Amino acid sequence: MPHRVTLIPGDGIGPEVAEAAVRVLEATGVPIEWERVELNEEMILAAGGRIPEPVLASLHRTLVGLKGPVTTPVAGGFRSLNVQLRKALDLYANVRPVRRLPGLKTRYQDTPIDIIIFRENTEDLYSGLENEVVDGVVTSLKVITRRASTRIARYAFQYARKLGRKKITAIHKANIMKLGDGLFLECCRQVAQDFEEIQYTELIVDNAAMQLVMRPEQFDILLMPNLYGDIISDLAAGLVGGLGIVPGANMGDEHAVFEAVHGSAPDIAGRGVANPTALLQSAVLMLLHLGEEAAAMRIERALEAVHSEGKHLTRDLGGSATTREFTTAVIEKL
Ligand code: NAI
Repeated sequence: MPHRVTLIPGDGIGPEVAEAAVRVLEATGVPIEWERVELNEEMILAAGGRIPEPVLASLHRTLVGLKGPVTTPVAGGFRSLNVQLRKALDLYANVRPVRRLPGLKTRYQDTPIDIIIFRENTEDLYSGLENEVVDGVVTSLKVITRRASTRIARYAFQYARKLGRKKITAIHKANIMKLGDGLFLECCRQVAQDFEEIQYTELIVDNAAMQLVMRPEQFDILLMPNLYGDIISDLAAGLVGGLGIVPGANMGDEHAVFEAVHGSAPDIAGRGVANPTALLQSAVLMLLHLGEEAAAMRIERALEAVHSEGKHLTRDLGGSATTREFTTAVIEKL
């Protein structure tokens, strides 16, 4: 039986990296029946700023999605489709493994970096609850609940136990947001008690940012609310070669949508130069989720081989290969 997967190429560089992912997945021989659904700015506007119905209908059928980025207008315009999708499908755990690819030359190439970021994906300042109280005064509501904090903490600890990881650091700003981030920490501490073999520590987010730049090797698993997770993920991506590298998974109890950390990169969209590694690594996470470990490992090894050879790197990594040339090199290694 083929796996049925919803493919959402997205916009900007999305279709370019999605095409790369489909080519590589096809080359593994894993049978996948794609349900391709479009999601871009025009369609979102036509649907009144909401997720077009065919996208949700497909994900409800397949339960698994591979997604490219989707542009969100800055300041005005519709609410982020990514946030809407995560809420609609209750994809509460955002998982982002940040790993140094062997052979790839980066600023931290002699530092062993292997961090997994767990970001709460449904609330915090992404609740979208904003209010102009009077002209010139706006409030943005940060929502933290016991339910959401406990389930992301439990998800992270269970994941850590399954992989035999040693340490979880909760990132917060509870010195200032004593109630909101305080509740988040309270939930993490409570869950930590059920996982005695895993060391649990806490770090204030500003210090965490500095520590990640100074000594990233000290970190194992990072656990945090939504906004810090968004920012710290990009920082962490910068440690291992940038946004072209780092994959992600949005996990719920029923649905799973795999997508890169990066956005639609309007500055390079349509030029065929985007690095598809991040979406390819997201596809690896998807294959693991589908129980296709062997194919997942083959793609990983092919990516490592192409990066350590260094002959077909894209421009973000100092090379001159196009997205297609890089992808062809990966397929040859497979
Ligand atoms: P971005 O991630 O699109 O780009 C930041 C920088 O990284 C740019 O210089 C871009 O060229 C580079 N970059 C990103 N991915 C790359 C890749 N695969 N290969 C080579 N270089 C890459 O972030 P930005 O510019 O802040 O956001 C652009 C749009 O994307 C916004 O509308 C934002 O809302 C949206 N976005 C969507 C996401 C999603 O759909 N999950 C996630 C993040 C942003």
